[in-house]
Amino acid sequence: MRVLLALLVSTLIVWPSSAEEIVLPAQKWPFQGPLGLYDKAELQRGFQVYREVCAACHSLDLLSYRNLREIGLSEAAVKAIATSVQVTDGPNEQGEIFERPGLPTDRFKAPFPNAQAARVANNGALPPDLSLMAKARFNGTDYIYALLIGYTEPPAGMTMNEGLFFNRYFPGQQIAMPQPLAEGMVEYSDGTEASVDRMARDVAAFLTWAAEPNQDARKRLGLSVVLALGIIAALFYLVKRRIWSDLH
Ligand code: HEC
Repeated sequence: MRVLLALLVSTLIVWPSSAEEIVLPAQKWPFQGPLGLYDKAELQRGFQVYREVCAACHSLDLLSYRNLREIGLSEAAVKAIATSVQVTDGPNEQGEIFERPGLPTDRFKAPFPNAQAARVANNGALPPDLSLMAKARFNGTDYIYALLIGYTEPPAGMTMNEGLFFNRYFPGQQIAMPQPLAEGMVEYSDGTEASVDRMARDVAAFLTWAAEPNQDARKRLGLSVVLALGIIAALFYLVKRRIWSDLH
């Protein structure tokens, strides 16, 4: 028993090595909390950032173009986005593989045909698929935002490996992704000013939706279930009072 206790105490003392822990600045998001819902205008801006910047290197394999209807894009807009890419299809009746314009039902087209090609274009590093990134990292939304604004000069005395960039929120602080965002890089169709902060926030929100598109529906359902249970509980209480009223 005493040995066990000593072991427990010593792990508690040794375990949280907080000295090198990276602290993410906690952000506020419209979709936080049990009642928070996605802001569609923000998601649309985020998609624009993904499409014009991140999509040069990162795939988004789990999304189809038609999913963009869910963030409020019109059918015509979705069609235009889909047809702007050429996808490989086939075989046709002649047994040939062919190229055709994309359809709303197609998955998002990846920037590279395979992982090797992606590595060759990125100095040997593989840009990961972003479909589930917001869930794959701890505090994913905050992390993606922080990563995009986390580029600075390396601290004095730090030797950087070749081809890597200093980012204070990336584990190890040396990342193979060059700083992707620069002031005014996209021209938002809703007229919002495209600061680095704004773009980082919007694309982090968009990638959160991509990883969890059903979150709004789940919250709405949860709310109506809680309300319904509340009403049922109140009715039961009234019935109980009625039934027992003669016996008091
Ligand atoms: C020029 C290519 C390029 C562009 C453009 C680019 N990235 Fe990356 N990204 C990379 C590479 C390469 C890696 C892998 C980095 C590593 O493992 O060191 C990466 C990694 C990441 C990661 C994963 C970090 C982790 O914890 O593993 C995220 C998230 C990310 N990028 C988001 C974005 C977003 C959002 C955009 C658009 C604003 C973007 N990237 C634009 C090349 C790019």
